[in-house]
Amino acid sequence: MMALTVNGTQHRLEVAPETPLLWVLRDQLGLGGSKFGCGAGLCGACSVHVDGAVVRSCQMAVGDIGERAVVTIEAVQEQPGIADIAAAVVAAWVQAGVPQCGYCQPGFVMATIGSIATDRSQSREAVLGQLSNICRCGSYDAVREAVGITLDRLRHDAP
Ligand code: FES
Ligand code: FES
Repeated sequence: MMALTVNGTQHRLEVAPETPLLWVLRDQLGLGGSKFGCGAGLCGACSVHVDGAVVRSCQMAVGDIGERAVVTIEAVQEQPGIADIAAAVVAAWVQAGVPQCGYCQPGFVMATIGSIATDRSQSREAVLGQLSNICRCGSYDAVREAVGITLDRLRHDAP
């Protein structure tokens, strides 16, 4: 039996410790927003936050998480300290019309929020430089636009 905190709720799971976090999120907890893309740490479709750090959940064994808090796309807009970033990213994604098939987008959004949360004053290029997610639909230009919109909005709204 293993304890795991996801989106503020502690779960007790009967699962082998080497099981990838993504499998637990999707198959045991019913959180389907984090996607399976490559399963090899390359595409970022499975990105979540673990104690605020962007993590590729297909590559993290659930037994290595310990007491750290996992946040997924389903609850990222409710997290203290980053809720405004999450709201700005989601709004910018809509404004820029980023999603095409949409499959990679939860991972892109989680990676972008995590990147901006490390330093709200960084440049668009700095944020984009931290995004290594892959989009089969080629939404990269729209992601670029949306990251710029997000940073502009956050700076405009800053006290
Ligand atoms: S599914 Fe995890 S990086 Fe591709
Ligand atoms: S929007 Fe289709 S894979 Fe990225």
